[in-house]
Amino acid sequence: MQFPKIIQGGMGVGVSNWRLANAVSKLGQLGVVSGTALDSLFVRRLADGDPGGDMRRGLDAFPFPEMAKRVWDEYYIPGGKAAGAPYPLPPMHQRRELRKVVELCIVSNFVEVYLARQDHRNSVGINYLEKVQMPHLSSIYGAMLAGVGYVLMGAGIPLHIPGVLDALAGLRPAEYRLAVTGAAPDADTAMRFDPADYVEGPLPVLDRPRFLAIVSSNTLATTMLRRASGRVDGLVIESPTAGGHNAPPRGKLLLNAAGEPVYGERDQVDLAGLRALGVPFWLAGGYGNAKSVRFALDQGAAGVQVGTAFAFSRESGLRPDLKNSLLSQATTGTGEVFTDPVASPTGFPFKVALLQGSYSDPEVAATRTRVCDIGLLRESYAMPDGKIGYRCSAEPVANYVAKGGKVEETVGRKCLCNALLANIGHAQARKGDLMEEPALVTVGDDLNTVAQFLTPGRTSYGAADVIASLLSLTDDTVATDSSEMVYVTA
Ligand SMILES: Cc1cc2nc3c(=O)[nH]c(=O)nc-3n(C[C@H](O)[C@H](O)[C@H](O)COP(=O)(O)O)c2cc1C
Repeated sequence: MQFPKIIQGGMGVGVSNWRLANAVSKLGQLGVVSGTALDSLFVRRLADGDPGGDMRRGLDAFPFPEMAKRVWDEYYIPGGKAAGAPYPLPPMHQRRELRKVVELCIVSNFVEVYLARQDHRNSVGINYLEKVQMPHLSSIYGAMLAGVGYVLMGAGIPLHIPGVLDALAGLRPAEYRLAVTGAAPDADTAMRFDPADYVEGPLPVLDRPRFLAIVSSNTLATTMLRRASGRVDGLVIESPTAGGHNAPPRGKLLLNAAGEPVYGERDQVDLAGLRALGVPFWLAGGYGNAKSVRFALDQGAAGVQVGTAFAFSRESGLRPDLKNSLLSQATTGTGEVFTDPVASPTGFPFKVALLQGSYSDPEVAATRTRVCDIGLLRESYAMPDGKIGYRCSAEPVANYVAKGGKVEETVGRKCLCNALLANIGHAQARKGDLMEEPALVTVGDDLNTVAQFLTPGRTSYGAADVIASLLSLTDDTVATDSSEMVYVTA
């Protein structure tokens, strides 16, 4: 079995978009689109008038034309919405999903993967966060309809996803148990998805994608392999230096003088133990340079997963002004990254680039009025009447507390749903002090090292530059002929 040496890590929302994944996969490595909030992102692209016609191109290939038409008719705005007008908001997810929400997920996940797969025959992956549970079933189905080759999932313990992949590939209904705080152990909190309810004609035959679990420790790696509901094809082992969400330190949470979680010996991964598990693994978190790639291979890894280096490439979805500001900081070695223990409503530490004028700037954070209108990070909880309610620790404090949330939980929380859409140029327009939602860029600890990809005299670099550089101490060459279906090995 052939595996990629480089996985371009999933980067939500829309930083690893179809363009970046397409570029990486075309070069013979594994391009991964972010599957997080693709429904909201798709709506915003259509509301912007679908510049370039890419969404339309994807929709034209969608196997259920009536569904594609419903989504297009509802959200497409010819010529784009007026400047300063708010984006339309699709209904929020819930355990018993509205049909239109399910359809939007299927369609948007299909289109992202379809576009990433165009003009080459290599695999493309999709990344989801286990914690963002409610869109999983419909999203995965949409991605599988487009022939996704890998599903990668972290930010939680995705034990039940392999079984979902098996069910959908077997053309059977799939189930996924929603974690509901305070629910009785025997309460039925399952979400169900039957493809037969959505197809227009016979059920399309689907391949079962490979499943890679993203974990941070030997214990979790073993748990995934022993207890998952189906086959786990490999593991990405992510250290707390990685961009995005990080696993919390093991044991009691200690903060350093700056207020960041302190990681210790117990958070170190035992590579011999990983090798003994007998499945391919990729190392992630600070592996965005040739020496580290060489090290990972020498340690028996199949390769590395890299995010930060690709986030600043020309193909990524990150807003050009943010990309340029941080790239110029990297060039002078002045970029600063803070591991924020409370920003993310998930409760996981979240890496943030310190950038004046962005949401990481305390003044900006203090000016933003709390609002929850996307709701992907809401926690499901059992209400006194047994029904399921939803709350987010970044929503207006009074609302959160009225839903039984603890006021301490709200301190320092940031609305990642809105901020991450702002990062890629789809900020919601607001009335009041802040006319639009502020951005909050996440990057890995080695932000400043991305300057290595800028050759003298250049102010930008592409995914191909990253791949060539990362592979420079291996025997691999960069694939130039995309019709070759292989990860090229000399
Ligand atoms: C901008 C950005 C967004 C990220 N978003 C996600 C995500 O949505 N899901 C995920 O599993 N990992 C996410 N990550 C982590 C990457 O997939 C990858 O594992 C990590 O960046 C590797 O470490 P590095 O940043 O040192 O290269 C993100 C990383 C970055 C830089």
